Amino acid sequence: MSELHTDERREEEIRQGESELYPPPQHVLETAHVSAEDYARYRKEGTENPVKFWEDRAREMVDWFEPWEKAFDDSNAPFYKWFVGAKTNIVYNALDRHVKTWRRNKIALIWEGEPGDRRVFSYYRLWQEVNRFANILKGMGVKKGDRVTIYMGRVPELPIAMLATAKIGAIHSVVYGGFSVEALAERIQDAQSKVLITADGGWMRGKIVRLKDIADEAVKRSPVVEQMIVVKRTGHEVNMEVGRDFWLHELQQLPIANGTCETEVMDAEDPLFILYTSGTTGKPKGVLHTHGGYQVGIATTLKWAFDLKDEDRWWCAADPGWITGHSYIVYGPLILGVTSFMYEGAPNYPYPDRWWRMIEHYGISVLYTAPTAIRGLMRFGDAWPKRHDLSSLRLLGTVGEPINPEAWRWYYRVIGGERCPIIDTWWQTETGNFMITPLPVTPLKPGSATFPFPGIVADVVRDNGEPADPGEDGYLVIKHPWPGMARTIYGDPDRYVRQYWSKFAEQKWYLTGDSARKDEDGYFWIIGRMDDVIKVAGYRLGTAEIESALVSHPAVAEAAVIGVPDEVKGNVIYAYVILQAGYEAKPELEDELKKHVRHELGPIAVPAKIEVVDKLPKTRSGKIMRRVLRAKAMGQPVGDLSTLAD
Ligand code: WT7
Repeated sequence: MSELHTDERREEEIRQGESELYPPPQHVLETAHVSAEDYARYRKEGTENPVKFWEDRAREMVDWFEPWEKAFDDSNAPFYKWFVGAKTNIVYNALDRHVKTWRRNKIALIWEGEPGDRRVFSYYRLWQEVNRFANILKGMGVKKGDRVTIYMGRVPELPIAMLATAKIGAIHSVVYGGFSVEALAERIQDAQSKVLITADGGWMRGKIVRLKDIADEAVKRSPVVEQMIVVKRTGHEVNMEVGRDFWLHELQQLPIANGTCETEVMDAEDPLFILYTSGTTGKPKGVLHTHGGYQVGIATTLKWAFDLKDEDRWWCAADPGWITGHSYIVYGPLILGVTSFMYEGAPNYPYPDRWWRMIEHYGISVLYTAPTAIRGLMRFGDAWPKRHDLSSLRLLGTVGEPINPEAWRWYYRVIGGERCPIIDTWWQTETGNFMITPLPVTPLKPGSATFPFPGIVADVVRDNGEPADPGEDGYLVIKHPWPGMARTIYGDPDRYVRQYWSKFAEQKWYLTGDSARKDEDGYFWIIGRMDDVIKVAGYRLGTAEIESALVSHPAVAEAAVIGVPDEVKGNVIYAYVILQAGYEAKPELEDELKKHVRHELGPIAVPAKIEVVDKLPKTRSGKIMRRVLRAKAMGQPVGDLSTLAD
């Protein structure tokens, strides 16, 4: 932990945003699920007695095969348990229960591919597809508790594969389709997945991403995979290894695929998925979530924060490969029985109005995206969105990094027509669900995620645990466990304790890794990560993974990576490398190293700049002083160098 204090840019953003207040519009006050009075009451009750609050929600939001004996168990802290003894399966709540009601005919998912193709799934049809896929997995020998890795683009088969895995009680590990060979190999290896579900390719900006080739190379490095299921998406020629690789459409023709597949009865605390995320060390953390508490957390937060109703068309523009997609593309909306929209490709392909065109065409009513996407589309000017009728929108959302007031106002004015509250949701892979977020009735300040969700006890504290004063930067902590929280890091419970529960061990608080401040009105302002995690275009990357990718190139002896502020992406990556003896700093080398990082980790991890240096600034204990590198990159004074070794 190093930097408690905000950079100048965020400081200026907070100063601007603090002085503005946007009250909720009339349509919200008249129709929202949670009224202003109820909100105040829930916040009070949820803080005083979080267990009671979440128990009420668990009864109200989802169905259980058998009720719990104990709502909350802290006997083995920090390995907390929720709804102990209850029996459930999230897929029962997401699909099975709906096909017994009128909802079987409701649209669950509308999908548009980048080339313009479309598919629509009713709840009944989606349920059938999930049954077929689940039967196939069972037929391949996948059992309760087995891990299944899923590596695909944004196509309907991705949620279908996730739901099928969960239906039979197996654990999915989805690896984002923008990751590459080493990132995938490492995640397969850590989860020890015997089955890998992938696609021949995916469409992105008019080009084919060759997913199957990457999968083949990853499996060479992690040979635990025994079987691969391959979805035909792009139709180009791929290598299919006889006896190991199977086309999904061919498996679907086999008699084993037919009929319904019984939903496995799970314990509330049984694992649902592992999702890898970046931390301080090079090895990604397998964040583990469970069937019981997680479904309560995501259903409650989605319903209340985005006020979803039967008539809505919800578009969470994230990727199912991240927690945002797990919680709010796949499981949350299905549990609530709403209609979702999903789009395969790039926002500006073939033109910068692709998103606005689709909002108009499908009548999207709630859009949830990231500041980097908003800033990226803002750059193309107002004319592109203004060509389209966006009046179907009634709420907007943002997530992933702090939003600057300028982007907030543009989103509010140009996209939302000044009638859509902006729901700025702060949360993490580890938290499972929104933690700090407005509800539609909350008066908004641009750039602030406003207040903790009811039932979430969040605070900003000093290093010694004392509460920080208004306007003072401190550690963002969560002071009481919540049902949707991660239960452990897969295969590494010690790391779970060390990472999240050791800084404030005495108080038993969860350490988020973010710094924040509260203003005089109690609004929370997120500042950013305090550890070696960088948010690049909303993606969470660890400096250590990028450094180890660089060092895996024969020319590189040592590498140091930092995040440098960027107008659109929030941050971009700068890398400093020391070359191995015998290598020279040539202009081609920078390109070659970038290509290498792209091949190993994927396009999102490629540094904007790689500079060859003779030395790296280190402390006497050998830790890289990233502060010094950042100052150098930004042309600022380097400050106190007394701890520098050399
Ligand atoms: C980190 C978690 C689950 C959401 C997607 C990212 C940053 C997230 C906000 C926000 C300011 C935000 C934090 C957090 N972050 N949302 N609304 N305002 N910062 O999940 O990849 O696990 O990253 O994203 O720094 O710690 P993630």
